Amino acid sequence: MTDIVRYLTGITTTGTPHLGNYVGAIRPAVEASRRAGTENFYFLADYHALIKCDEPARIQRSTLEIAACWLAAGLDPEQVFFYRQSDIPEITELTWLLTCVTGKGILNRAHAYKAQVDKNTAAGVDVDADVTMGLFMYPVLMAADILLFKAHKIPVGRDQVQHIEMARDMAQSYNHLYGEHLVLPEAAVDESVALLPGLDGRKMSKSYDNVIALFGPREQVRKQIFSIVTDSRAPGEPKETEGSALFQIYQAFASPEDTARLRQAYADGISWADAKQMLFEHIDREIAPMRERYEHLVNHPEELERILQAGAAKARTRATPLMRELRQAVGLRNLGAVAGAGRKEKAKSALPSFKQYREADGLFYFKFVDAQGKLLVQSAGFASPREAGQFIAALKQGGTLPGDGKAVAAEGVSTDQVNSALKALAETGN
Ligand code: TRP
Repeated sequence: MTDIVRYLTGITTTGTPHLGNYVGAIRPAVEASRRAGTENFYFLADYHALIKCDEPARIQRSTLEIAACWLAAGLDPEQVFFYRQSDIPEITELTWLLTCVTGKGILNRAHAYKAQVDKNTAAGVDVDADVTMGLFMYPVLMAADILLFKAHKIPVGRDQVQHIEMARDMAQSYNHLYGEHLVLPEAAVDESVALLPGLDGRKMSKSYDNVIALFGPREQVRKQIFSIVTDSRAPGEPKETEGSALFQIYQAFASPEDTARLRQAYADGISWADAKQMLFEHIDREIAPMRERYEHLVNHPEELERILQAGAAKARTRATPLMRELRQAVGLRNLGAVAGAGRKEKAKSALPSFKQYREADGLFYFKFVDAQGKLLVQSAGFASPREAGQFIAALKQGGTLPGDGKAVAAEGVSTDQVNSALKALAETGN
């Protein structure tokens, strides 16, 4: 049993990363990419960008800038999987297979689509006005991104959790119909990641027009920092750290000792100009070395292109074999192999099988049923689908119920019956 945990992150290629993206997403992801026992997938979601943006030059520019930012911030393409979504044809292939196992009703409930429908309803226009199939299918494309690499954990913000649950549902539907080929992913929402305030104290966001550039020219960054809104306290007057955007941004870049020093300086009445200068220097110290690399990459797009091509080739060492397996499973096959496979399939449908599902209590369960669908084993709740999956794998390998209560034989079913069903399954290699 392997213990590698796979993390996967997609970055939509519209816009240019700002300091808030750096603190909230890029920096923690780069740190996380160095954890032992993990595999990390980062990709530029340029197909997703097409859903929101119809300006080709902007898509291209944003892809270039985002790729350069992540590399400049220290992402090592040798250590991780770093690629562009549209370089992986298997993603669109899998999107179609998933489309065919996804109920339209599920997609009707997706937040992004529903928001547009609600807006249209309020405006008294056709409910689907301005809804492209791209917007409607957004969650399916995202599920393909995730499932193609058998990712376990998807670090996302709250707004994306629904999409991960939909990806789980799609994996489950596929597995139910065609066998256990796909891994059920989970959202990993990190509440501890700081939301950086912007120049006006609200969350830093392009839509509020309150951002500090990440790799903008030094002078521009300096100007932006000096335009952070403060109160009117004069030099010499003690200042409040509570609710001070300047202080919070400083904290995101400084050591605890330096932060304590600034806190003291606030109490001692440091001038806002001096405090801003301190902040600028701190940010610049961290960013300046990266800015050089960023500028180099942006000015050598052919170098970036090579890195992305190599990343795609590496990603496809995973994507291609899985896609082959998935095509085979649904019946998209070499015709010469049909007869034999057809016979085997009949046998397969008469096998016992595991069914994984989630209950309203939020825990993950499985059942083991015989060829006729009769319940043989019922599990207790597991904290994650991974744990449930590992338990199933152990059962399949060990072939007996461990007797720790995590999974028990159904009423009227003997341990022998369970064991022989497990053995029957093991013999077929399923
Ligand atoms: N929808 C994500 C966002 O807007 C981007 C994304 C696309 C993604 N595919 C993904 C994130 C797969 C995680 C996994 O932020």
